Amino acid sequence: MKISIIGTGYVGLVTGVCLAKKGHNVICVDRVESIINSINSGIAPIFEKHLEDLLLEVIRDKLTATSDVGYAVENSEVSIIAVGTPFSEGNIDLKNVKEAAYDIGVILKKKKDYHVVCVKSTVIPTTTDTMILKTLEEASGKKLGEFGLVMNPEFLREGNAVEDFMNPDRIIIGAMDDKSFEVFSKIYKSHFDAPIVKTNSRTAEMIKYTSNALLAALISFSNEIAAISEEIGDTDALEVLEGVHMDRRLSLIVEGKITMPGIIKYLKPSRGFGGSCFPKDVKSLIAFSEKLGYKPKILKSVIEVNESQIERLVLKLKDEIGEIRDKTIAILGLAFKAGTDDIRESQSIKLIRRLIKEGAVLKCYDPIAIENAKKELEEQANLEFYSNYENTLLNADAALIMTDWDTIANISIDVFKKLMKNPVIIDGCRILIKNNIKEQKTKYRGIGLRMIEK
Ligand code: UGA
Repeated sequence: MKISIIGTGYVGLVTGVCLAKKGHNVICVDRVESIINSINSGIAPIFEKHLEDLLLEVIRDKLTATSDVGYAVENSEVSIIAVGTPFSEGNIDLKNVKEAAYDIGVILKKKKDYHVVCVKSTVIPTTTDTMILKTLEEASGKKLGEFGLVMNPEFLREGNAVEDFMNPDRIIIGAMDDKSFEVFSKIYKSHFDAPIVKTNSRTAEMIKYTSNALLAALISFSNEIAAISEEIGDTDALEVLEGVHMDRRLSLIVEGKITMPGIIKYLKPSRGFGGSCFPKDVKSLIAFSEKLGYKPKILKSVIEVNESQIERLVLKLKDEIGEIRDKTIAILGLAFKAGTDDIRESQSIKLIRRLIKEGAVLKCYDPIAIENAKKELEEQANLEFYSNYENTLLNADAALIMTDWDTIANISIDVFKKLMKNPVIIDGCRILIKNNIKEQKTKYRGIGLRMIEK
């Protein structure tokens, strides 16, 4: 099929490149000329595993980029809106989505052939069948039926986005009518080995929010159990949760062996969730729900527990080293999770800001996210960045692990002991445990673990 994609961020570009790889003809549209030039030269403007390799395979033959939305819509049968929905003042801003719908609508006015518009950006339930439909109808002067409209949410994890797109668990298509569904589903039919679920657009929008809210809730649930376990003492919340994982309702027994489904990963104590999706999506769902007259209780607690994780880390640090002012603290990891250079809503960045206020001297390490962190954090004398962990740990009074990078998980305890002034390790990701840390002579505090000296 001929497909145009409006917006070339993580979602838009991954979608475009993967659909081109599946044999479709894709035109990517963006307003930023430097992004277009980069894509057309086969250079991925964002870091995402396998993206650039695939882009090089499809560029020119199957995929091109342009700033001309008119050309893209005229020369395609389906337009996918994948623009950003920034979060401001407690709500997502739908301005970009609306503008994209308007731009498409204007072209549809002149277009004779049937064309389907798809909303892929994460939008609040009711957006597609109210605001987007109205915008398209007004701009095109046509009625639904003369053009098609669907909502097709994405379930891509950053760092795994290409693999997730190529091997989806399910494809949700919230269609405004049967014809929209029939035409749009051709993009996936016979190209992907996954069930295609037909819903209405509101349900599709809600599936996306519910999916992220559930995963975020599991993390906050685990962190609440972690906090209680710390109060008890000598009770490791990680062991507690691993004991829970083995319930056959959570882990299937296949051919006599316990197999852990991916969701179990989210039932683990951690420094809390970040990224461009979980915090924004849960907060947007809360705000939307309140607007409708229902005050969510669980979702509010999910955010509250997550936000308190930073304070809990600071308390652990104070517990171990006393006064923070003028102490040298190594921050291991800046990205919101391993496998990405994205620092949006990263708990690490939030912790850094908090520690700067306390007067700490910070040495920060990340294998790939330093440039983005520098753009985010104001330059200051007591904040330094290192691309190797040895220099970061040198003479530090404490180290805080904030991203679950393998390079960090594999640092041996001897390295911490040799380089640091004082080997206090606060493990926000519970990744050092495989080093049998409990037996080592270090002051180790993991989330959900407070050992009692006997
Ligand atoms: C998330 C969802 O997993 C995707 O399904 C969804 O498509 C995407 O949001 C989106 O809405 O676009 P992503 O934000 O890339 O994907 O990252 P995850 O791997 O789910 O992790 C989110 C945050 O939770 C990270 O900060 C991660 O470190 C944290 N996390 C994850 C934990 O703190 N503990 C865990 O056990 C798992």
